[in-house]
Amino acid sequence: MPAGVKFMFRLLCGSNMFVFSSEGDWDNTEYEEEIMYPIVKKEKLADKIYLMDVKAPRVAQYCEPGQFVIVKMDEHGERIPLTICDYDREAGTITIVFQTVGASTERMVALEAGDAFEDFVGPLGCPSDLIDEDIETLKKKKILFIAGGVGTAPVYPQVKWLHEHGVDCDVIMGSRNKDLLILEDEMRAVATNLYVTTDDGSYGFHGTGTAQLQALWDEGVRYDHCVAIGPMIMMKFVCKLTKELGIHTIVSMNPIMVDGTGMCGACRLVVGDEVKFACVDGPEFDGHLVDFDQAMKRQQQYKTEEGRAMLKQQEGDTHHGGCGQCS
Ligand code: FES
Repeated sequence: MPAGVKFMFRLLCGSNMFVFSSEGDWDNTEYEEEIMYPIVKKEKLADKIYLMDVKAPRVAQYCEPGQFVIVKMDEHGERIPLTICDYDREAGTITIVFQTVGASTERMVALEAGDAFEDFVGPLGCPSDLIDEDIETLKKKKILFIAGGVGTAPVYPQVKWLHEHGVDCDVIMGSRNKDLLILEDEMRAVATNLYVTTDDGSYGFHGTGTAQLQALWDEGVRYDHCVAIGPMIMMKFVCKLTKELGIHTIVSMNPIMVDGTGMCGACRLVVGDEVKFACVDGPEFDGHLVDFDQAMKRQQQYKTEEGRAMLKQQEGDTHHGGCGQCS
């Protein structure tokens, strides 16, 4: 591209809109305003967990529950994938919730209302299958969501959507302790029955979400469909139990992501006998088919150069290497 030429490219594909923009200065004020994504609200929800409302009208217009965005603070920033916690089509805002887990999310904490993200790409991934089902069929199902930690954030828009469409669903939401619980009031307003759990017993049911499900089942409560979102280890154990109980279970996978468009291979998973990429084939999958042990091992390996080289060898043609970090 000749020096000085800038570009902004938006591709609408199905319900996905991909936004690509050049980095650096943009001397047209109108476009400058268009490609920046201001934070209109910031709130601390719990220790190291923050909520932000970000003005991103086009993402807000097209997003659906289950999808995610990739944000970038500035030209030096890392791409950070974040699930969509809520959206307001009228106000043109997206609500994101994030936990500080590394240098990039620590930097994000420094942003305040009035600051802006340079890139806010989305909506990415496939919407939840539930929103395509016939509403009357959904109403006949006994649906349960199990949310762990910040997994409560992506569960919330799905429960809210079902509630708005007259579909009942129960929610088990848990965290390590009372201080780490988020969005309890919001969830209580949309869930039919809300069961809160803490690992240390400081609030609600003493134990994990899996233990709470077992307790409900022992009391005679039955479910046809479960959606579990949280740490991989939690989803693994939920799926182990729901398989025994015969409850169809969907999980939302959160492997390492780089480009979010299926090009880099970072988010590779094995689901049944197939290789899938969470960013374009998911993030939701049949939990009883996901190879969690492989996904967790891969998550660790991908963090080091040596691990990525090993993955390249093990995964052959299905390891894209498009991220440029392992070629
Ligand atoms: Fe999914 Fe790159 S993040 S292929």
